[in-house]
Amino acid sequence: MNFNIGVIRGDGIGPEIVTEAIKVLDGVGAKFGHTFNYTEILMGGCSIDACGEPLTEEAIQAALASDAVLMGSIGGNTSTSPWYKLPADKRPEAGLLKLRKSLNLFANLRPAYLYEELKEACPLRDDIIGDGFDMMIMRELTGGLYFGTRSTVEEDGQLVARDSLTYSESEIRRIAKRGFDIALKRRKKVTSVDKANVLDSSRLWRKIVEEVAKDYPEVEYEHMLVDNCAMQLVKDPRQFDVILTENMFGDILSDEASMVTGSIGMLSSASLNDTKFGLYEPSGGSAPDIAGKGIANPIATILSAAMMLRYSFDLDAEADAIENAVKKVLKDGYRTIDIMPRDGSSVKQVGTSEMGDLIVERL
Ligand code: IPM
Ligand code: MG
Repeated sequence: MNFNIGVIRGDGIGPEIVTEAIKVLDGVGAKFGHTFNYTEILMGGCSIDACGEPLTEEAIQAALASDAVLMGSIGGNTSTSPWYKLPADKRPEAGLLKLRKSLNLFANLRPAYLYEELKEACPLRDDIIGDGFDMMIMRELTGGLYFGTRSTVEEDGQLVARDSLTYSESEIRRIAKRGFDIALKRRKKVTSVDKANVLDSSRLWRKIVEEVAKDYPEVEYEHMLVDNCAMQLVKDPRQFDVILTENMFGDILSDEASMVTGSIGMLSSASLNDTKFGLYEPSGGSAPDIAGKGIANPIATILSAAMMLRYSFDLDAEADAIENAVKKVLKDGYRTIDIMPRDGSSVKQVGTSEMGDLIVERL
């Protein structure tokens, strides 16, 4: 089959890690008889440099015309990069938020999985890790604080800043359904995370999730306050299957969940709308400090490409092939620097491009 993939290489390590994911996609194409056509799309700092804005209308149209979009990462060093001297709506991140909103990508799936081979890179104690953990953070992505009205105005001689947090019933219902649907294909448990002891938006969240849960009697569900959830993630991460939460809480908890797996360089993500279209990107950032050094871990981007095959193209066997090749490469003892064990004598450290080649060999 033929698929058209929009490619956003972005900034920092983005271009390097995307190159490896494309290498792996082409390897899968050759093996299974598919052709992937790539259209380069500019977004983030590189788009600011080339076009004066982080996301042009032309870029949005190119994304819309693709079957799915594969992305690296965007943004630079927030203290030193000239991009951060620009007004907030002209910075690299504004491009990503605009793309999520324009394409209605309301459902963000961030799997956090502990690989057997990487237990050593996990900062938690052995008795907490147990036989490992495997959870899916389901983050609402187009509402809440990220997209509410903002202002900074002078009142009574001082500056006052406001960000508003809004959720409608329909926004909550559609993400909750997605969360329960995903749980059905996993261990059938949903933990809905909110701050219902303080926020109105969370009380509505809880009410709607309760309504949706009635349609999924086979799924066990519970509510958890976000501060408790932050604690439980390090105390007992094995209790979680699907964590369903709003935009800002999901941003924070997904970074925490990724770090307990050992490295953010391992974690993929998918941002989906109501169609088969999706935006696939690693959960980690652009890591400007290591950009261009050839040491970044490409696995999160490669696994994001696998998610694209699974969710947008319905190519399950092909996605399995990538995921198994990643497991195999770890089993065979190859590591990028971020996932090197404390005692590295039993494994071999490799760079970004070598890791891509090793995974292609194992497809
Ligand atoms: C993420 C990132 C983004 C977010 C930034 C880059 C705007 O942290 O995808 O988690 O906050 O959503
Ligand atoms: Mg984040």
